Amino acid sequence: MRMVDLIAKKRDGKELSQEEIAFVVEGYTRGDIPDYQMSAWAMAVFFRGMTPAETAHLTMAMARSGDTVDLSRIHGVKVDKHSTGGVGDKTTLVVAPLVAAAGVPVAKMSGRGLGHTGGTIDKLESIPGFTTELSPDAFVDQVNRIGMAVVGQTGNLTPADKKLYSLRDVTATVNSVPLIASSVMSKKIAAGADAIVLDVKAGSGAFMKTVEDAWRLASTMVDIGRSVGRRTVAVISNMDQPLGLAVGNALEVREAVDALRGEGPEDLTRLALTLGAHMVVLGGKAGSFKEAYEKLENILRNGEALEKFRQFVAAQGGNPDVADRPGELLPKAPYRITVPSPVEGFVHGIRAEEIGLAAMMLGAGRATKESSIDPAVGVVLAKKVGDSVRRGEILAILHANREDVADIRQRVERAFDIRPQRRKKPRLIHGVAE
Ligand code: URA
Repeated sequence: MRMVDLIAKKRDGKELSQEEIAFVVEGYTRGDIPDYQMSAWAMAVFFRGMTPAETAHLTMAMARSGDTVDLSRIHGVKVDKHSTGGVGDKTTLVVAPLVAAAGVPVAKMSGRGLGHTGGTIDKLESIPGFTTELSPDAFVDQVNRIGMAVVGQTGNLTPADKKLYSLRDVTATVNSVPLIASSVMSKKIAAGADAIVLDVKAGSGAFMKTVEDAWRLASTMVDIGRSVGRRTVAVISNMDQPLGLAVGNALEVREAVDALRGEGPEDLTRLALTLGAHMVVLGGKAGSFKEAYEKLENILRNGEALEKFRQFVAAQGGNPDVADRPGELLPKAPYRITVPSPVEGFVHGIRAEEIGLAAMMLGAGRATKESSIDPAVGVVLAKKVGDSVRRGEILAILHANREDVADIRQRVERAFDIRPQRRKKPRLIHGVAE
């Protein structure tokens, strides 16, 4: 086989076989296929797309390109959850204890964040003493003992995806549905998932700007799951404004604790219950979505989810009292700077990307892989889309480690689109692909 022939075949819109796709992925991972040929191939895929069979072959070839996690010692169906990424998305911190309390084991590997704010691992590390480094045995034992563990990614998982993703980043081939879908699904499969619940974000703060594009991505990932024997459900949710109110690592942990106490923002709580309910169904702990949802609402109400969070934090070296006194125990920024509204009206939009960027400029996210983050800083919204606002009323509060943040303040002010006409609350969940 020659790479040049496979590039030409894809360029001409023909379907590649399983062997041909394996040749591309294995050759590229080993370094036999150079970046310039892989770039041409990725661009051919970008324009020609891939059939469902090709997408499934690409997923499995990438999933098998490096180490895979063996979760077979964990009892029960291992259901993983993945979000395509959004601003203020702390759902894992709420969903994992919720679902674990319902009897579905959560053995989760998460990433650090690049860009806006930290990833789940950065958020968890804002809890004093918390460690996200566990040996494979300790990871499995903890899940069997308390039902959940969340660790940072270790080992050489999906090296093919890592290499291809970096290449796509600099060759304008990121935004291809089969390439995104296979990238996401290969990582979940390599991480040992039996079943997968995806939160596909749609809107200004997401990869997929329109609901239609998000549906296409969601359906492609569900199809991949079906053809490789991993039951997959994808929820399409709104990312036209940040999720919840808090954006920033410790601030998001605090909000997640509020949600686990039953006192969180409505959108975060509802999304967590929805994703969690699908996980409970896939995990075989409820017969229907409705039954699962009600079960989780009950677990939230009776304090079991919060108790699971306490056990989880304690098991990974953190202070479990953070579940009861988050305001006291989590790191706090020295300055709070308010952003008042310059006009009166109704909030029509909050550009999530801008809020994320503001949080990053305050120090909550990484501009490059090497930058360090400040766990305490971020933005807390006081208004959401649909709310009325008076002139001078607070739109948001910046939690900063310095006083001079006039530029960031202005950015947050400008992220709010305020108009005289009323605006209905936006829909949170656009649909479910399964
Ligand atoms: N997230 C991924 O993991 N892969 C992509 O290709 C895009 C987003």
